[in-house]
Amino acid sequence: MKSVAVIGASLAGLYTARALRAQGFDGRLVIVGDERHRPYDRPPLSKDFLTGTTGQDQLALADAEEIAELDAEWLLGTRATGLDTGGRTVLLDGGRSLTTDGLVIATGATPRRLPGTPPTGAHTLRTLDDAQALRADLARGPARVVVIGGGFIGAEVASSCAGLGHDVTVVEAAPLPLVPQLGDAMARICSALHADHGVALITGTGVARLHSGGGENRVTGVELTDGRLLPADVVVIGIGVRPHTAWLEGSGLPLDDGVRCDAGGVTPLPQIVAVGDVARVDGSRTEHWTSATEQAAVAAQNLLAGSTVARHRSLPYFWSDQYGVRIQFAGRRLPTDTPRIVEGSPDDRSFLACYERDGHTTAVLALNRPRPFMRLRRELARATQPATT
Ligand code: FAD
Ligand code: NAI
Repeated sequence: MKSVAVIGASLAGLYTARALRAQGFDGRLVIVGDERHRPYDRPPLSKDFLTGTTGQDQLALADAEEIAELDAEWLLGTRATGLDTGGRTVLLDGGRSLTTDGLVIATGATPRRLPGTPPTGAHTLRTLDDAQALRADLARGPARVVVIGGGFIGAEVASSCAGLGHDVTVVEAAPLPLVPQLGDAMARICSALHADHGVALITGTGVARLHSGGGENRVTGVELTDGRLLPADVVVIGIGVRPHTAWLEGSGLPLDDGVRCDAGGVTPLPQIVAVGDVARVDGSRTEHWTSATEQAAVAAQNLLAGSTVARHRSLPYFWSDQYGVRIQFAGRRLPTDTPRIVEGSPDDRSFLACYERDGHTTAVLALNRPRPFMRLRRELARATQPATT
């Protein structure tokens, strides 16, 4: 393979580019990204970057030396608009195109939006530019912040905004947030963190529309589907994401909640792999940092081999920081698995729980217990995962 294009210049794209070089690829490497920034880390955007304790210069995923070592051509501020798989050509905005032997799809995900044009003061949060805009809005002074969606973005933004002294309400459509990830009992404990910190959590109701007014058409309130009107100066919408696959429509690649690929990240065309949030690997798509990085080495190996010689088998893992509490989860749980507290107490917001099925541990969850969590995570990985081949 003489040339590889990586589409998406963020976490999964950078890690795959690095893995290609580390595995001996010395051909032409082109990295295309529609953001104007070099790869940066997203997790701080809802946490320390929002509160101002982390600056933009601390977000870079690679320093100047690492960028130079990668020896890649960077096409930043450039969007891929189409893919001609027959000609192995990626179409770029501005009428340009790029033809390479191998292709890495790493275009991530984009926030779901409410219908209509959002008024000034209503934000989604995915990119550094989004985070800067939200931070600037929050710096205008004490605000009534309504967060729509009580998932990860919602909970972390609510925590950061409350920490900054704003008056925060979270609106969640489901009866309880985080149930798909943690199950009912553990989701209930995590959701209680909001009340601990004076943040109102309204559940079981959606949003009918946003109210706005004035010359700036600034948001003034959030009308709920049950008729209530919540006054708001700033609104943050965190209602999930969609994989960034629009540019692949018509390419012939199977698109079905992400780019469908096998357990090695390989699409039906062996010269094309997918990694990170955009990839539906072996039937499931993950939207977490660690999966994006772990998939990269496997996909790079398969791309260079020209077939699936390695499979992604790591134990799913994520963390979230909310109200000074670190939540960590690892494993594969089913809704019927039963959580059991094995250390600490939910009342102290510091405990370790194991999810169990037929006497076996399937997953582990910790609140503010990083060390024992890591030990259990390793043990679980050993018990359930054959070595990656
Ligand atoms: P992305 O990071 O979305 O990158 C995809 C890139 O491709 C983007 O730069 C995008 O603009 C670009 N792109 C898209 N389409 C095109 C195109 N057509 N042409 C060119 N470029 C394109 N995970 C955790 O496990 N723990 C956390 O605490 C955590 N916190 C998070 C906080 C925030 C605010 C966000 C947004 C995410 C967080 N995540 C967290 C999730 C984690 O950041 C993602 O799983 C990770 O960023 C996925 O990496 P990716 O490279 O696959 O996709
Ligand atoms: P999410 O899927 O985690 O949560 C979305 C929430 O919004 C769900 O609880 C859903 O029930 C609710 N919702 C949907 N429509 C609604 C509506 N109309 N009104 C009110 N509630 C509604 O997605 P989220 O929080 O937007 O995060 C986006 C992405 O960022 C995800 O991929 C997530 O994994 C990632 N992320 C991960 C973090 C972590 O792992 N710590 C932190 C921040 C983001």
